[in-house]
Amino acid sequence: MTKIVYVATDGSRTEVEARDGDSVMRTALANDVEGIVGECGGSMMCATCHVIVDEAWAEKVGPRSDGEEDLLDGAATEPRPTSRLSCQITVRPELDGLVVHLPEAQM
Ligand code: FES
Repeated sequence: MTKIVYVATDGSRTEVEARDGDSVMRTALANDVEGIVGECGGSMMCATCHVIVDEAWAEKVGPRSDGEEDLLDGAATEPRPTSRLSCQITVRPELDGLVVHLPEAQM
């Protein structure tokens, strides 16, 4: 199991145990983490799974793909340099302790 930490805009933190191989978006939905919608189910069509990866983790998580870039341009909250679509981040052991920040709005 890999720990993922979701930080809301008010600073509150939700720590969950994620299954390796799941996405950071699916993990949030499975654990009732508020602030991630995941409207398209992870097929990269909605950008309602926007997260801002904590800068300390950005390198380990890796850069966004071209498709993510396009979708994030239309996200409800303006993307930041470390913004990613959480449906495109796969939970894996080296991400144990990953911190992602939730945006002000998803829709
Ligand atoms: Fe729709 Fe990630 S859930 S793009």
